[in-house]
Amino acid sequence: MFPILEAEFLAPEIKRFVIEAPRVARKRRAGQFVIVRLHERGERIPLTIADGDADRGTITLIVQGVGKTTRLMNMLEAGDAVLDLVGPLGEPSDVRNYGTVVVIGGGVGTAIAWPTAKAMKAAGNRVVAIIGARTKELVLLEPELREIADELEIVTDDGSYGRKGVVIDPLCERIMRGNRIDLVLAIGPVRMMQAVAEMTRPSGIRTIVSLNSLMVDGTGMCGGCRVATKEGTRFACVDGPEFDAHIVDFDVLARRNRTYAANEAEALETFRANPNAALEFVRRSCRLDRCHAEGDLAEVSSS
Ligand SMILES: Cc1cc2nc3c(=O)[nH]c(=O)nc-3n(C[C@H](O)[C@H](O)[C@H](O)COP(=O)(O)OP(=O)(O)OC[C@H]3O[C@@H](n4cnc5c(N)ncnc54)[C@H](O)[C@@H]3O)c2cc1C
Ligand code: FES
Repeated sequence: MFPILEAEFLAPEIKRFVIEAPRVARKRRAGQFVIVRLHERGERIPLTIADGDADRGTITLIVQGVGKTTRLMNMLEAGDAVLDLVGPLGEPSDVRNYGTVVVIGGGVGTAIAWPTAKAMKAAGNRVVAIIGARTKELVLLEPELREIADELEIVTDDGSYGRKGVVIDPLCERIMRGNRIDLVLAIGPVRMMQAVAEMTRPSGIRTIVSLNSLMVDGTGMCGGCRVATKEGTRFACVDGPEFDAHIVDFDVLARRNRTYAANEAEALETFRANPNAALEFVRRSCRLDRCHAEGDLAEVSSS
């Protein structure tokens, strides 16, 4: 069991958790993730290690509530615990001194890009951060990025904060102006990463994306996370999650990510009908002195 020490909303539906996980905290490197299972009958979901403190033995996760499991997780508070947490998983980011690195984060992708942006700065790069969100209140980690970025551009779809538009606009301008860019790291929705790849391809700017494939074990055993690339099939959990954007087939990725859309919608609807019952199940499942009245709980957990 992994106790939650801190839990706070950073934005609507986006919550930051500090979780006690000393071994993961000691080993983790930028770009890696964990697989979390909230309770005995819960599914396993991948979440990026946004930050960590080896001395305190904690890691930070930033979670956007999109479906049943992430919305349930975002109901947890300090004092609760998650049942399983496996990691660190995946290949760490290839952090070197490239020169100028443009880091692009769309939505919760900003939280996923943040640890690598920080590591790139520590490696001596000039970091230009471009972060985007639908609206002002969803802009993430602005103070943290201001601390490390040499330049920070904020873009919102509705223009309520920063410039109006999408995150690829400032990148496009920089490329057109001939600004020096040695590496682009783009993390966000599949179609956003695909657009960045197409924008940097003609000028051959090295571009890395972090792929949000569906995952199960996260250790290379099932191929659920497989990604089609020009160099053949790769498993995002062990070969990635970061890949050269110019070899990824994003259409296959988008299609594969929709595989369980109907089941996901159904699970969310059932969860929404009684979220407190699901929360109670996590709490009972994660109590050291839990009673074993699993028969009583089966109905709730299978929803
Ligand atoms: C390596 C990796 C790291 C990740 N890191 C983070 C993170 O730090 N914070 C965070 O909030 N999310 C992260 N994700 C995405 C997260 O795993 C999914 O949002 C989560 O599994 C959804 O579970 P659910 O049951 O709540 O939603 P589901 O019911 O499974 O899905 C609901 C909807 O969410 C979307 N979705 C489902 N799975 C994914 C996915 N893997 N990626 C993106 N969208 C998805 C789809 O539109 C789907 O229809 C990461 C994914 C990967 C592969
Ligand atoms: S999630 Fe099973 S191999 Fe990657």
